[in-house]
Formats: sequence, structure tokens, C-alpha cells
Amino acid sequence: MTIAAPIANSLQRASWIRQMFEAGARLKQQYGADQVFDFSLGNPILEPPAKVHETLHALLDDPAPGHHRYMPNGGFPAVREYLANELREEQGLPFEKEDIVLCVGAGGGLNVVAKALLEPGDEVVALAPYFVEYGFYVQNHGGVLTVAKTRQEDFLPDLEALEAVMTPKTRAIIVNSPNNPTGVVYSQAVLDELGSWLRTQEQRFGRPIYLIADEPYRKLLFDEVTNGSVLKAHPNSILITSHSKDLGLAGERIGYIALHPEVPDRALWQEALVFTNRILGFVNAPALMQRALPHLRGVQVDIGFYQQLRDQVCGLMEEVGISCVRPQGAFYLFPQALEEDDVAFVRRAQEEKLLLVPGSGFGWPGCFRLSYCCPGSVIENSREAWLRLVESYR
Ligand SMILES: Cc1ncc(COP(=O)(O)O)c(C=O)c1O
Repeated sequence: MTIAAPIANSLQRASWIRQMFEAGARLKQQYGADQVFDFSLGNPILEPPAKVHETLHALLDDPAPGHHRYMPNGGFPAVREYLANELREEQGLPFEKEDIVLCVGAGGGLNVVAKALLEPGDEVVALAPYFVEYGFYVQNHGGVLTVAKTRQEDFLPDLEALEAVMTPKTRAIIVNSPNNPTGVVYSQAVLDELGSWLRTQEQRFGRPIYLIADEPYRKLLFDEVTNGSVLKAHPNSILITSHSKDLGLAGERIGYIALHPEVPDRALWQEALVFTNRILGFVNAPALMQRALPHLRGVQVDIGFYQQLRDQVCGLMEEVGISCVRPQGAFYLFPQALEEDDVAFVRRAQEEKLLLVPGSGFGWPGCFRLSYCCPGSVIENSREAWLRLVESYR
């Protein structure tokens, strides 16, 4: 063996996802990209708003000395202060700049938090269906991901299922709203219930159990729905977000971690997050992107564009007779497959040149994920293929 066994194992577990990707690439080569309906990717298609480009140009045209050098590992103090202020207003909690750590996207932030929190064998709970990288992130730091299913009917947390996986080693629960892969949004009431249940679990086990919110889609909300706040629901909570989706900057890797101001051992936590950001080799979040943030208050991509796609794709699913929970955010749909074996269903869909991801990849067999982060014409032109797919199951 040349590489580490756990990585070799992870590669193998992830291999069929790769197979789907490769099959899609082959289909595109064979038939031409416009003949293949790719609903498999979660790569934001909207370009960053013009204000982002203007801001970056202005920053580059007026270079302040030292701004491309190393900085404090938590980020530029002025940017941390700006974000703390914004969160103070938004959450009504007394954030200080030290509660904010700029990070390399939400993926980077999750690793920074896991590194600070986990000892070997510690457990983190994900709520299925869940973003598959959580398992790898937790494993990176010696932890173990355990999984509790959400409720079948609405993909919201099921406290009984959660209680069944809690052990003295449980250190945290990750919630993700708006959700990948379901598009479901957790209201404040849902999170408050989860928070008060967590406090009974903390009493039961005699130590803090953290609520970690992974929120790269937090601004991608439809129908005037609001996303609940974990920070309001539980004092032992940490928010992680990024601008990969709301500013279309996934490749630029900019996000932040916000620590609840009332977390026990606040100063130690603040120091730990800065330290783990450093020793994981991130060192600090990209400098130019950090400096852009205070100029981009209230700026975001056109969320209405994604809402229209949501309406279009839900209309199509209804028309062809595939049932799903109507998403209220992000850009995913998680419908029921037309046979029990979701991998077989996705392979069958490929024959119609429809590229989907099986629910098994999210710890939830029997469904599939459809990403509608694609031009509306792809949805429109895929209609006949869907009709044929459904017909083949009659
Ligand atoms: C649920 C979820 N969490 C985290 C990430 C990582 O986002 P980022 O680009 O901010 O690292 C993604 C990206 O698709 C995601 O879907």
C-alpha cells in the first residue's frame, strides 16, 4: 500500500459517485453537452454581482501596503469587527471581533471547528440525508460520524431518532439549512425545539454538546421564508458560512466561523479556532476576498433566479408524476426514486441522458438528488426524457 489505508477506503466508498461523474462526461462526449441534461452538480452558475468585480478592481487599483502579507490567523481585525457588528445586529447577541474567524469556505470552517473540538473516537451526529463530506471532515480529526435519520415526510429533525444515536462520546450535531440535498429550511421553532432537547442531553451526559450550523446556503431562501438561527436556539453553538453561493465565489474560498458569545470557555474557543485555522495549513482566509467583504454588505446574486428554477423544476416533477418535498432554499430537490434501488434508478435515468445523484450518496437510499443549478433551458429540454423515464416504470 502506498497511501494511507483510511484514504484508500474513502476513495473506494466515494468511487461510485466518481463513476456517475465519469459516465456523465462520457455521455456528453458521445452525444454533445446540449443533448445531456446534467442535474448532478452543485456548482453555482450565477456570476458574482457586478459590485464584486468593482470592489476587487478598486482594491487592486489602490493597494494598501502590507495587504498581501501574512496577517493574524483569524483574519484582518477590521473585517472581523465588521462581521461581528453585522451579526450583533442580525442576531441580537454581543459578538466581539474575536468570536469571528475568517476561513477558507464552509468546508475549511467545518474542519477548523472539528479540529478544535474532537478527540480520537469522539462522535459527531449528521442528520440524514446529509452532505457526504461531513464523514470525511470528521474522520480527518480522529472523530466518528454517526447518523440519525430525519422525518420521512418533511426531512426535519426527528428527536427520537437523534436520541437513539446519542452516546457519552457525542460532541456535536451538524445541521445544514437550507439543506443539501433536500432544499428544506429549518425554522426558528424547529431549532428552538432541537436546542431545548440538546440541553436535556447535556444534562444527561454532563458536558456541552455543540450545535454546529453549516450554512453556505443561508441567503438562498425562497417564498419569503426565514432561516432559523442556531445561535438563538442554543448557547453552545457555532455558525459556519461562506460566500460560495450567495456571491457566486465558490472558487475564491471565503467564509467565516461565528462562535456563540455565551459559549463556556469563550476565550479558549476563540484562541483554539485561530490556532487550528493556522495549523491545518489554511494559515488565514484569502486576503483580497476578506478585504472585499465590508464593501459588499447586502450584495448577493439574484435569488429570484434560483426560485424561478425551483418553480420550473417542481412543475416538471409534478407533471411527470415524481413526488418530492417542495424546497424552500438552496438549489436542490430530493425526490423519491421510481424503484427501491436508487443507484439502479439513476443508471436507468442516464440511459435517457438525465444525470442525477443517488440518495445513497447522502445516506438516504430510495431517493435521488436533482440539482437545478443549471440554465432553465436544460430543465425545459429534459421534459421528454423525464416522460420516457417515468413511462419505462409503468
Ligand atoms: C452542505 C454543504 N456544506 C458545505 C459545503 C462547502 O461549501 P464551501 O464552498 O463554502 O466550502 C457545500 C458545498 O457544496 C455544501 O453543499
